[in-house]
This record gives sequence, structure tokens and C-alpha cells, in this order.
Amino acid sequence: MKIFLDTADIESIKRANDTGLLDGITTNPSKVLESGKKFYDVIKEICQIVKGPVSAEAVAVKAEDIVKEAVIIAGIAPNVVIKVPMTHEGLKASFMLKEKGIKVNVTMVFAADQVLLALKTNPTFVSIVISRLDKIGGDVVALINDSVKIKQNYGFNGEILAASIKNRANVIDCMKAGIDIVTLPENIFFDMFNHPQTEYGLREFDVAWDNVKKAGLA
Ligand code: E4P
Repeated sequence: MKIFLDTADIESIKRANDTGLLDGITTNPSKVLESGKKFYDVIKEICQIVKGPVSAEAVAVKAEDIVKEAVIIAGIAPNVVIKVPMTHEGLKASFMLKEKGIKVNVTMVFAADQVLLALKTNPTFVSIVISRLDKIGGDVVALINDSVKIKQNYGFNGEILAASIKNRANVIDCMKAGIDIVTLPENIFFDMFNHPQTEYGLREFDVAWDNVKKAGLA
């Protein structure tokens, strides 16, 4: 399973990238706002740091306008992927961008039938949005499992990207289901390194090693 970071914060991206475990980045207008930087500048800066795909959102509504916007954004760097909305116009744009060789991430997907429609446009990614579904009482684990099954049943190429993840349990749900990619906030990514028993066990070995030295056995 690939791991992306869902942020436009350059320092977060550098920290995660330094681990060697980061496969890509997703952003959205809220993340750009949080970064305090101009949209094109921050996407360019991210693309200079991260080799993998960097999703940047087109905000136009009509397919033709989404495509115009996407062509400009995709010009920033070869690893840019354009986020289009899970709407009639967004999926029309997805087909049009595919023709132009521009990579697409269909976003704001909350239901299995939306996953099917999005995958039929042959995008690079389809983003299912986990915590926002959870907030309204939706069945997150069912959506995760169904998305993987739909992709497998019909042999679609698009990768299923689980977005808006706010806890480790959902990351594990995604791994078990065979989700292609999770995009995470920095805190969840770094939390994945930790377990209380890891810390406890390592402390115990530190003490034991001191005693090894004291006993002249080192
Ligand atoms: C992921 O690609 C999007 O940025 C994400 O769905 C939005 O996440 P949020 O629910 O944390 O805003």
C-alpha cells in the first residue's frame, strides 16, 4: 500500500519525505489556505521535493473550464495529478483530460456506485473520503471493502486512494482490504511508527545492555 501525505505544508512534507516511505502528496484548497502560500508556488515547491504524484485541485465547475484550468496546473511539473470533482461535469473532464494525457484524481467519492462511475473514466486515482463519511454515520469499512472489490471485479486500472483518514484503525482497515493508497495527515503517518510495547521493550534492552557492560560482557 502506498502512503501519501494530505497536506501542502512544506515542513511536514520534508519530514515525511526524509523517512523514504512517502509515495506522494494530495492537497486541496483548504490545505493550500493552511500553507499560507500561493497555489502555484506551493504546488511547484512540493513537486521539487516529492518525486511521486502530487494532486492539486481544479475548482472550475464546467468540464471545459476544468480542462482549461487543469492544463495550466499540469504544466507546473510532470508529477502533477489534477483533482476533479465526483460530478457529471467532473467525470466529463476526467475523460477529456485522459485524452490529453493529463493524470486525474476523482475526488469527493462517498459511495460504491460513485466509485464505479469514477473508475469507468479511467483516472489515475479515485479518492474515497473516509472521515467525512464517518462523520455522517456512513459505513466506512464497507466503502473501503466495496471499492477494492469493484476494482477487482471489473479489472479497472485506476488506483483506489483512501483520503481524509484521521485514525490508525482506518489505515489498518485499508491495508486489510487491499486499498492501493492512503493519504494521511502528518500526525497519523508518524504515529504508525509507534507502539507502547516497542518503547517498553527497547527501554528494557537499554537497561539490560548497561548491565551487560557493568558485568564486563560487552
Ligand atoms: C484528499 O485528497 C483530500 O484532501 C481529503 O479528502 C480532504 O480531507 P479532509 O476531510 O481532511 O478535509
